[in-house]
Order: sequence, then structure tokens, then C-alpha cells
Amino acid sequence: MSLRTRLCALLGIEHPIVQSGMGGVAGPELVAEVCGAGGLGILAGLNVPAGDLRKAIRRVRELTDRPFGVNLWLHSGLRPPIDPATIPEATLAQAQGVLNQFRTRLGVRTAVERPPRGPDLVSEAFEVILEERPAIFSSALGFDPTMIKRCHERGIKAMTMATTVEDARAMAAAGADVIVAQGGEAGGHRSVDGKPVSPDTTSVSTMVLVPQVAEAVRVPVVAAGGIADGRGLVAALALGATGILLGTRFVATRESMAAEIYKKRVLESDSTATTLTDTISGLWARALRNRFTEEYRQSGAPVLPPHIQRVAAGDVFQASLKNQDPDYYPMMTGQSTGLIHDLPAAAEVVETIVREAQAILDRLCRGDLS
Ligand SMILES: Cc1cc2nc3c(=O)[nH]c(=O)nc-3n(C[C@H](O)[C@H](O)[C@H](O)COP(=O)(O)O)c2cc1C
Repeated sequence: MSLRTRLCALLGIEHPIVQSGMGGVAGPELVAEVCGAGGLGILAGLNVPAGDLRKAIRRVRELTDRPFGVNLWLHSGLRPPIDPATIPEATLAQAQGVLNQFRTRLGVRTAVERPPRGPDLVSEAFEVILEERPAIFSSALGFDPTMIKRCHERGIKAMTMATTVEDARAMAAAGADVIVAQGGEAGGHRSVDGKPVSPDTTSVSTMVLVPQVAEAVRVPVVAAGGIADGRGLVAALALGATGILLGTRFVATRESMAAEIYKKRVLESDSTATTLTDTISGLWARALRNRFTEEYRQSGAPVLPPHIQRVAAGDVFQASLKNQDPDYYPMMTGQSTGLIHDLPAAAEVVETIVREAQAILDRLCRGDLS
């Protein structure tokens, strides 16, 4: 039984399996490995300066001649980055206060000053994408109709990621070629612009979101969130998706750029180990619960504005990594961590999912529902 779907035909890939362009995780080696196995690899563009992004795109091309994508976050808090001067003194003092407790434990110099304003990278990175013309421009945490139009003028397909039916409709109206429906189980940030007061409105489960998005739009829908094996692929197809996008599963692969302490935690953790937190970046994201996420929350200290929180906590994260101490390190991870127990090559992930899904479909077609 063939697993070739409308998504495969549209993107020129063999299997309907997409590897997320995860910031800090998805480099050229991971992307090329996934593409080589017939899936779609997406290169991370988050916080990557234009020159480095161009080099990474060219490196993917040295490693594979298959279609691949490049991902950017389009969050309004990055375009341009929010000015730290807008943070009230008392908010800054309370946030630095709790970060200083962590710094002291990790042997890092304490800080009271305002974090620097992040660099404005999105527009330049997008121009590089237009010039280099990968097959797909993948965007998250916002979408931009003008960017979609400019991609189409260059023959690049646009893949956008939504957490609500309403956003999916707006993306389809803006010309998106593929819409990723990101369910609440997903690891990493909720793909929405701005910051909802609570993460609840952007955390509808994959099982519930995908059929509604598939009904609402005419373009191919890709299911994301909680999928790590062939069972997840078959379930997603049954819900009306034409493919799956995986993040957490690919964190725990040999080619992923994730730190070893982080990969180890993904392998060891069960599905209750994650939390939706804004303490890491200032935006809602699903990550492994650790001393950083829990003690920050319990302190009652305010979280700094989107992205500035990540810059402010950067020295804590770096020290945690240097000390090989996962207690203060940000580990974006979805609930599918409980399904992941090995560290294969990324190509094996694609091959195993295809093999498992085909076996399940064969069994179901024989009417074997036991
Ligand atoms: C470590 C990590 C980093 C991520 N970074 C990005 C990113 O930079 N851009 C993006 O579009 N999505 C990113 N995501 C979210 C994924 O695109 C996707 O929605 C999610 O991983 C799917 O759920 P799963 O983790 O259960 O597979 C990230 C996810 C993880 C786990």
C-alpha cells in the first residue's frame, strides 16, 4: 500500500514525513539525512544571521539534491526585536533577582542591568531565502501574506503553522500552500503571533485540531504534535491530514545538534515530564520541566517580554550546559518524549515510520481491528 499523498506530489518528496526546522537543532546534516530517506527536512533559521544561513543552505545542497525547506519565526516581537528600555525597573529587578539565584548556584556573575536588544535578523534572512530558493519556506509564530506572495514569485512554496482553525483559515486565504496544524502535545513554542494571556487557547490537542483544520481549508494539512511513529502517521491520515511534522522525535537522533544532556533527558523522560512555560523565552512553549522552569514559576517573579526573557537568561542556560547540568537548561520537548527510547540516525526514523505505517494499514485493510 502506497503512502504517497497529495503532500508528496506537491513537494516532490517520497514519504509524507516532515522534520521540523527546529532552532538550535536542525542543521544541514539532519536536514540532508531526512531528505535522503525521502522525507522533507527543514533547516532552522531562527536567530541565524543572514551570512550563516546562506552557508547552511549551501551546505545542505552539497549533501543532498532533494527538495528541502528553510524555517523562520515571524513573531512581531522580533520584527523588530522589542526594546528592553520598555521594561519597568521593578519588573527587571524581580526577574534578575530570580535569575541571580540560579547564577549564584551555577557560579556565574550576577546581573542587574537591562539585557541588550536582540539583533534584527528576520528581513535579511528572508532575502537570503528568496535568493537561494529552497523548495519550501516554512514559517511559524505568525505569517505574512506579502512574504508568501514573494515566495510564489520565486517558485518557493509556503508552509505555515497554525494552532487554531481561525489562523489556519487566514493562512489559506493568504495563499499558504501547506498548513501545519500544531496540536497542544507539541514540543517547542505555540505557533501564534503575540502572546495569549494563557497557553490554553493555543493548545488544542492534535486529535481535535487536525480534523477541524482539514475541514476548514482546501490546501494539504500536516499534523504536528505528539507524533513519533507509524501509528501516529496512520492516525494523522485518518484525521484528514496528508502528512506529519515531527520535532521531538528528531531531537533524539544522531544528526540533531541538540546537546547530549538534552538528548539523554528526552530518552529518559515519560509523557508527564513536560510543561507549558513562558519562563524560557517569554512566550508559551512546551519543554521538559526542570529546576529553571519550576523555581522561576514558584518565585512569582514576572517573566520579561517575548525574546528578551531568553536573552536575559542566556548566561544561565550557557552555564548549565557548560556544567553538564540539565536542571537549568532549556529543553523544548513534546509529550511524545514518552514514546522515544532510542537514538537512531534520522533516516532510520523516516524508514521506520513508513514501515510501521504500512504494516498497520495492511492490517486494517484486511479488516483486522483487534
Ligand atoms: C526543540 C524544538 C525546537 C523547535 N523549534 C522550532 C522552530 O524553530 N521553528 C518551528 O517552526 N517550530 C519549532 N518547533 C516546533 C515544531 O515545529 C513542531 O510544532 C513540534 O515539534 C511538533 O510536535 P512534536 O514535538 O510532538 O513532534 C520546535 C520543536 C522542538 C521540540
